[in-house]
Amino acid sequence: MQIAIDGPASAGKSTVAKIIAHKLNFTYIDTGAMYRASTWIARENNINYGDEKGILAAIDHEQIEFKFKNGQQKIYAGNKDITQEIRTPDISANVSQVSALAGIREKMVSLQRHMAGEMNVVMDGRDIGTTVLPHAAVKIFLVASVHSRAERRMKDFKERGIKTSQSLAEIEHDIAERDYKDSHRQLSPLKKAEDATEIDTTSMTIDQVVETILSEIKKSQKKL
Ligand code: DC
Repeated sequence: MQIAIDGPASAGKSTVAKIIAHKLNFTYIDTGAMYRASTWIARENNINYGDEKGILAAIDHEQIEFKFKNGQQKIYAGNKDITQEIRTPDISANVSQVSALAGIREKMVSLQRHMAGEMNVVMDGRDIGTTVLPHAAVKIFLVASVHSRAERRMKDFKERGIKTSQSLAEIEHDIAERDYKDSHRQLSPLKKAEDATEIDTTSMTIDQVVETILSEIKKSQKKL
């Protein structure tokens, strides 16, 4: 079974996707982490963020892989665990450029479809319901106000121990800019699939969002 959860940055996708995957005993796949890992590989190898061929060659050399340790998903570039390093503001600021490259998307989408073909997945991203898994059993599109997403991001930085000199207003600005880039790029822009259920999480608790999605999953099972 495939469950697709899409939406803009910091709308709560990964938090709820992880909980749902855990409850259903499905595998959680964070596709944003794959684009972040590609960006990290480019930076590590001093490759320009627009150099598609260069980045693809580096990815071929340092395979991007998910591994599961103590129930936690870790992302690796070659042998190096980069789970934390891909979350820094520097990677966030450059990932839109790398994820807009056709060859990178093609490679990541093919990896994502391969994983979804092998196991039951809850996959989160921007184009899962529209492009990666157009036949997913359940499609969710999460949205929330820019302000509440910036507050969540700030809290997330603190919890992860990531130091940032950015103010809340600067984070809001970055999120709005990334929303714009992600929804206006030519290839697979951030867009709600026609058959996706939209949930505005601005004033919802995590538990409420999880319950809403679980009830959508139940509904879809009744239709089978
Ligand atoms: O979910 P995130 O913030 O970690 O995603 C990082 C970036 O990757 C985001 O700015 C857009 C891109 N992305 C994408 O283009 N397609 C996806 N399926 C997931 C993320």
